[in-house]
Amino acid sequence: MTSQAWPPIDHRPGFTMASVLFWLAVLSTLPVLWLNVMPALGGGARQGHADHSLWIVLHALTGLLTLASGFVALWMGWTRRGFEWHRHTGCTYVGAGMTMAFVALFLAISDPHRSPANGLATGTLAAVWLVATSMGWRRGSQKRWRSHQMWMIRSMVLTWTFVFCRLAQQLEGFDGLLPALGIWLFWTGPLALAEAGLQWWNRRQPAA
Ligand code: HEM
Repeated sequence: MTSQAWPPIDHRPGFTMASVLFWLAVLSTLPVLWLNVMPALGGGARQGHADHSLWIVLHALTGLLTLASGFVALWMGWTRRGFEWHRHTGCTYVGAGMTMAFVALFLAISDPHRSPANGLATGTLAAVWLVATSMGWRRGSQKRWRSHQMWMIRSMVLTWTFVFCRLAQQLEGFDGLLPALGIWLFWTGPLALAEAGLQWWNRRQPAA
């Protein structure tokens, strides 16, 4: 298992497909944060999830930190700006994200809303997130940077899919089969597209 030098910066300034996708991802979170996350933190969790509202608040707070630190760490790794802070923001992402995902897994398994179809869809997402992020962390500690980058991008794409999962919640009160199907599609679809893009990038610019 050989460690690699950091790959050269492959970010080209200006409008590239990667930069457009990155900023679209950042912008797409804003309405969901405003319409869903802030109300949940401002007391909404107590109404919709009376018996497990503290878990929802912990999940939403750590989810917020995961999103923010993930986008910043990705941007630092990609542009190498403020790169001396990349490790700290990356550790924040992993620490907050592990809490966010384990709470999500707990909620999916304990199924407080008696909706096993949703529990299966969100629980699987949480488990896949934990695998992708652990792989990214491990590859970083082994200094296998290309693999680290690819796993962390998979992880961040999975984090970002919360946007669609929260939108699916608006359908049929989140309890029917349709929202569960939506959650499956909304996280496996972006992951499959990201995988295709990552494989294409890795073939076009193999690691040194
Ligand atoms: C791996 C990623 C994620 C998974 C698997 C996940 C899973 C879940 C699950 C299972 C619930 C429902 C709990 C219940 O109704 O009892 C939930 C609720 C929630 N999640 Fe996530 N989540 C993820 C990422 C995020 C992120 C990044 C945020 C951003 C802040 C977030 C914010 C929320 C909020 C605010 C709720 C409560 C929504 C409401 O009731 O209005 N989640 N999540």
